[in-house]
Amino acid sequence: MSIDQTDEAVPALELRSLAKSFGGLKATRDVTFRVMPGDRKAIIGPNGAGKTTLFNLITGIYPVTSGQIFLFGNDVTKWRSHQRTALGMARTFQVTSLFPKLTVLDNVLLAINGLQPSKFVMWRPLASYRSTYDKAHSLLERASFLDRKDVEVRNLSHGEQRQLEIVLGLASDPKILLLDEPAAGLSSGESTEMAHFLIKLPRDLAILLIEHDMDVVFDVCAEISVLHFGELLETGTPEQIKKSQRVQEIYLGTG
Ligand SMILES: Nc1ncnc2c1ncn2[C@@H]1O[C@H](COP(=O)(O)OP(=O)(O)O)[C@@H](O)[C@H]1O
Ligand SMILES: [Mg+2]
Repeated sequence: MSIDQTDEAVPALELRSLAKSFGGLKATRDVTFRVMPGDRKAIIGPNGAGKTTLFNLITGIYPVTSGQIFLFGNDVTKWRSHQRTALGMARTFQVTSLFPKLTVLDNVLLAINGLQPSKFVMWRPLASYRSTYDKAHSLLERASFLDRKDVEVRNLSHGEQRQLEIVLGLASDPKILLLDEPAAGLSSGESTEMAHFLIKLPRDLAILLIEHDMDVVFDVCAEISVLHFGELLETGTPEQIKKSQRVQEIYLGTG
């Protein structure tokens, strides 16, 4: 494909005939998929469908067996994870990356500082602290988290801690955010709060949500694709997916 369109038409993420085998097991089969700037899309599927494998291919954790991955028009198939991140892709941090005895604001300041090449330099001009602080403030504001900036992380609910991980992922100013089961291990109330949190994120941020729990994606995503044994079987609006006989069969294990 030639890049002859305007910026608007370049997908944030594009997968072309992506495949991954682990020995004889085909965990990803011929997956072709696009996420345009600002899109909110989901890939759902039962356990073992290959969701995390797909995520690991996109983020560069696993090498692909065949096919290509494009980020903002660049073929990143052979790029390392950090190079992909530098183009504007972020994935969430694990819970363990939060500092429980520090405040929400301090955690964000550390995440922003961790991105700077001079992180091991102890002395820095005051102006640079000011800009880090301003950035943290605006990040918390955009993520609707400013009201909890002075709360110690250990005093947040489990669901809020999972949201904060996502906020930290935004410190690098990504244009596409990849979330692997953000509602895993959350109660149904916390899952609903997670969905509301995701809906409120800045609209120009594209989100690819990889989820087992269908209820979360119905709220957040305009388009849902169903992965089954490594293959994309069906794509549709939440309404279409809810009504799909095939999807019901897959989730009931009779597919
Ligand atoms: N590193 C790996 N080595 C071998 N097999 C793997 C590896 N990662 C995943 N698999 C297999 O690939 C399939 C898809 O797994 P996974 O991507 O974790 O599914 P999901 O996230 O949808 O539950 C499973 O059969 C799993 O056992
Ligand atoms: Mg998984």
